[in-house]
Amino acid sequence: MKRTKIKQLFSTTPTGQEVTVQGWVRTFRNNQFIAINDGSTIQNIQAVVDFNNTDPNILKRITTGACVSVTGELIPSPAKGQPVEVKVKQIEILGDSDPEKFPLQPKKHSLEFLREIAHLRSRTNTFGAVMRVRHAMAFAVHKFFNDRGFFYIHTPIITGSDAEGAGAMFRVTTLDPQNPPKDESGKINFKEDFFGRETNLTVSGQLEGETYALALGEIYTFGPTFRAENSNTTRHLAEFWMIEPEMAFYDIQDNMQLAQEFLQFLVRYALDNCAEDLDFLDKRAKEEEQSKPQDQRSELGLIDRLKFVADNDFQRLSYTEAIDILKNSNPNKKKKFQYLIDEWGVDLQSEHERYLVEKHFKKPVILYNYPASIKAFYMRQNEDGKTVAAMDVLFPGIGEIIGGSQREERYDRLLRRVNELGLPEKELWWYLDLRKFGSAPHAGFGLGFERLILFVTGMTNIRDVIPYPRFPGNAEF
Ligand code: 4AD
Ligand code: MG
Repeated sequence: MKRTKIKQLFSTTPTGQEVTVQGWVRTFRNNQFIAINDGSTIQNIQAVVDFNNTDPNILKRITTGACVSVTGELIPSPAKGQPVEVKVKQIEILGDSDPEKFPLQPKKHSLEFLREIAHLRSRTNTFGAVMRVRHAMAFAVHKFFNDRGFFYIHTPIITGSDAEGAGAMFRVTTLDPQNPPKDESGKINFKEDFFGRETNLTVSGQLEGETYALALGEIYTFGPTFRAENSNTTRHLAEFWMIEPEMAFYDIQDNMQLAQEFLQFLVRYALDNCAEDLDFLDKRAKEEEQSKPQDQRSELGLIDRLKFVADNDFQRLSYTEAIDILKNSNPNKKKKFQYLIDEWGVDLQSEHERYLVEKHFKKPVILYNYPASIKAFYMRQNEDGKTVAAMDVLFPGIGEIIGGSQREERYDRLLRRVNELGLPEKELWWYLDLRKFGSAPHAGFGLGFERLILFVTGMTNIRDVIPYPRFPGNAEF
């Protein structure tokens, strides 16, 4: 008999029909009640075994973690909190699980412990919920852009350009590290490498994305990106997914508006489509908060936070205005910031971003017009001669969730900047070409997918919102 997913059974009227459920045993109580989960929903279904008429050898094998297939009648459940249950007629053990050795006992495990068994943490309520939400968010990203006529462009993962300056890169090579070919001057000869040149894993699809925006109008990328920075934080991964829309004929204002509408759409989509999982994650986050000191607890619970973001405009202000606020803030005057703000031009640290969002405005903030000196070469130069049309979206509990800008579309200006920064003009020939042939104003941004998932799930470590996190010193699994 074909199996029915538990999610579907919970919306089926029980009329004694025969059904088959296949999934993993969460608990087995009183030799009678099996809680089975098949991942289709956070809810377990209860399967009730008639232990008098079941082979004791089978009963022994119904253990936490085992995989079972049960067939029986779907009946209304007398137990509280579950609409239906299965009265088992037939049970088959598809995969045994030795209860002495199975590391996931039906109790609360720490997230640190679960990271060490990332191949099994998928079977917990928390990771099931997080990954279902992650799926819904990926789907919603495509829906948002598709509905607006954007085209999904697959930019390369292996790139020859190392000019974005977004971060350190991972090398891609097939040369033998023990014995690489050398040129006359004794340097490694990358002409003999697979691509006939040095290549890396991409840090961003933006530059290639721009070439398609200036052809198809509005495009986006959604793919893995790689940064070899030694950042051991709860906000950084060495391999993360990024969504990068790029739009012809947009200025910085249009860009900020799109960023806000995009984030609000995603959050609203989660509220409308992931209610069960969000309820669970909301309760989970509340329990976690209990262990924090009062002044570090967030004022709103997860779901209220999501609703607030979905329904309220983000605060927009310039970098210069932000510096004024920060300079005169209490933590700056009382020297509570680790990095004190004393002059215009400094880069903002996450403590400053969080002060603006969580303490001062108490809502998401979009900062724009940053000093050119702390931003990438391709950002559009403002008339003041010192700022560029950059924008960062800052979220409560997260800090920077989006970074973007209007792009410098003027050939001469861009070239001057490339040379000022000593970037390899030769390698950027194609990017510069874009400004020679039918250039147009355009803008775009990058959303860190895992930072979005952190916000939507209320999880606090980025290593817990991606199936297999990659970070310094860790590439297990
Ligand atoms: O601000 P970033 O570096 O911007 C870019 O890469 C631009 N090319 C984007 C564009 O304009 N098309 O990165 C964009 C976002 C950040 O705001 C952050 O959310 C996320 O990517 N991000 C990371 N997420 C996880 N781990 C890391 N190491 C990240 N670095 C950036
Ligand atoms: Mg950034």
